[in-house]
Amino acid sequence: MDLARIRNFSIIAHIDHGKSTLSDRILEVTGAVQARDMKQQYLDSMDLERERGITIKAQNVRVEWNDHTFHLIDTPGHVDFGYEVSRSLAACEGVLLVVDAAQGIEAQTLANCYLALEHDLEIVACLNKIDLPAADPDRYAMELENVLGIAAEDILRISAKTGAGVPELLDAVIDRIPAPTGDADAPLQALIFDSQFDQYRGVVSSIRVMNGVMNANDKLHFMQAGADHEALEIGARRPATTPMKQLGPGEVGYLIAGIKDVGDARSGETVTTMSKGADTPLPGYQDPKPMVFSGLFPIDGDDFEDLRDALAKLKLNDASISYTPESSGALGFGFRCGFLGLLHMEIVKERLEREFGLALIATAPSVEYRVTSTDGETTVVSNPAELPVVQKIDTIEEPVFKVSIITPKEYTGALMDLCQTRRGEMKRMEYLSPERVELDYEIPLAEVVVDFFDQLKSRTQGYASLDYELTGYQAAHLVKVDILLNGEPADAFSTIVHREKAETYGRRMCEKLKELIPRQMFDVPIQAAIGGKVISRETVKAKRKDVTAKCYGGDISRKRKLLEKQKEGKKKMKAIGRVEVPGDVFISALKLD
Ligand code: GTP
Repeated sequence: MDLARIRNFSIIAHIDHGKSTLSDRILEVTGAVQARDMKQQYLDSMDLERERGITIKAQNVRVEWNDHTFHLIDTPGHVDFGYEVSRSLAACEGVLLVVDAAQGIEAQTLANCYLALEHDLEIVACLNKIDLPAADPDRYAMELENVLGIAAEDILRISAKTGAGVPELLDAVIDRIPAPTGDADAPLQALIFDSQFDQYRGVVSSIRVMNGVMNANDKLHFMQAGADHEALEIGARRPATTPMKQLGPGEVGYLIAGIKDVGDARSGETVTTMSKGADTPLPGYQDPKPMVFSGLFPIDGDDFEDLRDALAKLKLNDASISYTPESSGALGFGFRCGFLGLLHMEIVKERLEREFGLALIATAPSVEYRVTSTDGETTVVSNPAELPVVQKIDTIEEPVFKVSIITPKEYTGALMDLCQTRRGEMKRMEYLSPERVELDYEIPLAEVVVDFFDQLKSRTQGYASLDYELTGYQAAHLVKVDILLNGEPADAFSTIVHREKAETYGRRMCEKLKELIPRQMFDVPIQAAIGGKVISRETVKAKRKDVTAKCYGGDISRKRKLLEKQKEGKKKMKAIGRVEVPGDVFISALKLD
């Protein structure tokens, strides 16, 4: 294919600014999908994505416009999936920046634009939703000019909903985004930027050929994995998969090579040919690094093997999940799982429950601490239960994040207050425009993982946005707070916190559990303790009445119904020692604020 007639680009947009709608409109305008077949949001395939309106897995599609071939590369929109964004960008020469004309640019979008600039990509910017009465494109064009240096008059104005301005936008893609370069005669170097597991076909990878040519039936070498596979099928998505004989430099398509596990065809992998292959892989490969850890336990202990199978199946599609078996005094057998972030964790838990019919308890999310013992040995601890006894600890270091927040200026005070209570340290504050401020803080990750995002949203009525990245580790005075129910440690509730916050955490957890745990046949003391020293205490008083006491003698069916209902409820209970704890208590109790 003539390189000069190819354009490869991603759409960068904040959640809800219209990326999916614009992708749909592009498929329609270019004739790739007939209007009558148009299923709304064609590119978001998983139900969960559709429901939550977020794009998790990158998809790519090939369309034709004015004698040019476009490869539209979808990027995930959430901060948890930053590495995937970076891989998707590596497959492009440009990006389409889509900004809501009634909202302005948000923190993650800005961070992704900086990422695009680091990759030397051309940015074509547009303001979307100009059909909305609240749209103020002039104002937000000025703002974009201020923060990104894109001249306001070069910023296109579109409505992805009505289609207004979309053809002009596609023309601008041809004019402004450079054609790919690459050498067809060089050894093959193809970048995998996404892989998905298909039940029937095995792993289907999205690839971008950088140099050389990939032919159907080529014997391929996966350079980072060090594995060899045959190209069983290659082709393009238009958006239906269309097999092709070869893919040349600059082309984007899919590869099926009979692989059974996406971990063997990771994003960032370089594929070459077995004979006369490339000597060096493409730059920038990284193993996905979990940031947030939590124990997942089946409410019904008999479901443990099902949970193991379900995790193995999910991992086929998401190599970034990690899991190892774990046992807990209170919760029985489960898995310690690592996630890219909080949203990732929620999604995985929800998929396990929804797609595999499991009822699960997730323990308090934790981060990875570096613990140096008194004899000088450093270990990594992500599970409070594994923290050595206080006497053996020399220092504990915790991961620290750089957090940038963009907010309308009237919320600055409320946000500074939030960051301060989360042990944040202000690094920078800058006005993007007279109305909007960017705040940069360094905040320990542990303080961000517990509902920071919810707090940010509620304190700014949803107007602030956030981006974060790991900057390093920092020593802090951290301790483990244990929660005891009826004298038994309930390890699901124990957590590692800053010493200054230990009392507050302990007190609040005790109060919360007192509210949430139903009365039992006996008094249940609830205690919080640091290294055996009790710092807080509450009691759930014993109940007196029998639930069926209300039912008068004759009505057997009603009585039975009530007992059955109670039994149903019991199934969702978890016994900690002699105390019955309803499954949802674990979730409610961990939402502290
Ligand atoms: P994620 O998939 O969550 O990243 O969101 P998105 O950026 O893909 O946004 P999406 O396309 O789902 O659009 C969000 C909402 O804005 C939807 O309700 C769309 O119907 C609406 N929307 C998108 N473009 C326009 C537009 O041009 N005008 C108007 N009025 N609404 C639009």
